[in-house]
Amino acid sequence: MNLEQALVVSSEQACENTRLLWLSAPAVGRAARPGQFLMIRCGEGCDPLLPRPMSFHRFRQVGDERQFAILFDRRGRGTDWLWRRQPGDLVSLFGPLGRGYSVRRESQNLLLVAGGIGISALVSLADEAIAGGRAVTLLQGAKTAARLFPSSSLPPEVEVASATDDGSAGHRGLVTELLPQYLPWADQVFACGPNAMYEAMAAVMRQQTSRKPVQVLLEEHMACGMGVCYCCAVFTRRGVRLVCKDGPRFELREVFP
Ligand SMILES: Cc1cc2nc3c(=O)[nH]c(=O)nc-3n(C[C@H](O)[C@H](O)[C@H](O)COP(=O)(O)OP(=O)(O)OC[C@H]3O[C@@H](n4cnc5c(N)ncnc54)[C@H](O)[C@@H]3O)c2cc1C
Ligand code: FES
Repeated sequence: MNLEQALVVSSEQACENTRLLWLSAPAVGRAARPGQFLMIRCGEGCDPLLPRPMSFHRFRQVGDERQFAILFDRRGRGTDWLWRRQPGDLVSLFGPLGRGYSVRRESQNLLLVAGGIGISALVSLADEAIAGGRAVTLLQGAKTAARLFPSSSLPPEVEVASATDDGSAGHRGLVTELLPQYLPWADQVFACGPNAMYEAMAAVMRQQTSRKPVQVLLEEHMACGMGVCYCCAVFTRRGVRLVCKDGPRFELREVFP
């Protein structure tokens, strides 16, 4: 874990209310893995006091350096401040933190399920899987077409199916309604989204004759990000766990039986 001043390399809007920042902080980017996160300070001085957790969205090699991107929705004070960062600005952050996704060696077909801004954490997994010769299908759900992460920004080998609440793109309804038709194909499932999506996924999984392994990233409010303050504690089948230290990756069944 490294505390760094990261340089904002670029900042652009990715889709409605969502921004993509590429950052340079070599010690942080070097060791980070898909599904891990960083804690980023979102203001000058002490206001807001607490850093905000953000997933690693993407990685790229620039010369000797491995740069990384974050993708975030403008939600409140912290992300509004981040939204206004420009190339050349510095931001304080530390990471990488937590346990990221774990792909089994024998898994060839990976099914990725994204709800809303949950897409952020899944793109680097798709990048790595495709580079490693695996097949990837991404099911992406959003409120409207304007909130979908553009599939043109994904590796062309990724098969994408979308669902929107209002039917403005893809299936009208929940992304989890697409699951049953893709599950038989998948060796492993990886998801990132709100708890309501995980509950719906768990209901689908319970109806399957054979249970596929499903890894999810949990989101909780975090203060320290390092297992000290206990504000991210969740109940699992194995007892109380800390999302920042024991997660954010959990088996779906551990948390949503
Ligand atoms: C491990 C992890 C990874 C994350 N990765 C991303 C990411 O890649 N992109 C992204 O956009 N967001 C991500 N988040 C959520 C992000 O941390 C919050 O959106 C952010 O902290 C909001 O800060 P704010 O100051 O803008 O909002 P605040 O003013 O603090 O809050 C605005 C609203 O957002 C809600 N909120 C705040 N923090 C969280 C949280 N942790 N989870 C759910 N709701 C929250 C508040 O309850 C409130 O309704 C992640 C959270 C975790 C725990
Ligand atoms: S955020 Fe402090 S223990 Fe998890």
